[in-house]
Amino acid sequence: MSVNKDVKRVTTQILQKMKLQGEKISMLTAYDYSLAKIVDHAGIDIILVGDSASNVMAGHETTLPITLEQMIYHAQSVIKAAERSLVVVDIPFGYYQGDSKKALNSAIKIMKESEAHAIKLEGGREVKDSVARILSAGIPVMGHLGLTPQSIYKFGTYNVRAKETEEANKLIEDAKLLETLGCFAIVLEKIPANLATKVAEEVKIPIIGIGAGGGVDGQVLVLHDMLGITKEFSPRFIRRYANLNEIIDEAVKNYIQDVKQKDFPNSNEQY
Ligand code: KIV
Repeated sequence: MSVNKDVKRVTTQILQKMKLQGEKISMLTAYDYSLAKIVDHAGIDIILVGDSASNVMAGHETTLPITLEQMIYHAQSVIKAAERSLVVVDIPFGYYQGDSKKALNSAIKIMKESEAHAIKLEGGREVKDSVARILSAGIPVMGHLGLTPQSIYKFGTYNVRAKETEEANKLIEDAKLLETLGCFAIVLEKIPANLATKVAEEVKIPIIGIGAGGGVDGQVLVLHDMLGITKEFSPRFIRRYANLNEIIDEAVKNYIQDVKQKDFPNSNEQY
């Protein structure tokens, strides 16, 4: 049941209220105007202009190649469509790590040029100066811990993170640090469900999971995965709500056939 479905615009304060009221937060990615419009109209709480655009939109193997300018282009398209949802934009790899001034400039550029509502970045203590500096400018920051795809070459695989006690303890401390710094929410990606539940219980800000079980405050999926547009990527945590790959394939094949057989356009489909 949605307690907050009538809000005109989802804000970070409303997300906090949702956590307190026990209403789960829904979040999906979008990278373009047309799909963002459908997702927003359906009532999603948060649209993430994720750097997964690097894989999904641009066909790169990892999220590392996408640029700040490309992220802003996607965000500009999404923001025009988002009437109710909070729009969060990923700062891509190379634009915030190890240099808090650069991080602030990147966040300001995203906010100014896209008119998005918040930014997301990956990491805990390693990026604390960047997080603090961005927050000092009044820009809401969403954290991202666990499997952080921008660090794929450090991890070596996309396997579940924080299964061992040492990494799990570090993740809990990092979540508490992000909360203390002033982040409004944290994404936890691909970690054991009991660890994610513990984090959601121990911090007051909303915890949004992807492959982190049902004990957190909300869920996020990549839109193209849950719609069944992408087929190659099939981790256990994805639920396919449609099979658009097959639907589009069939539609395109029918169109090709109609063109070849001179069935399209017919006399009603011309001037
Ligand atoms: O870029 C993205 O799509 C993300 C989600 C997986 C949370 O960061």
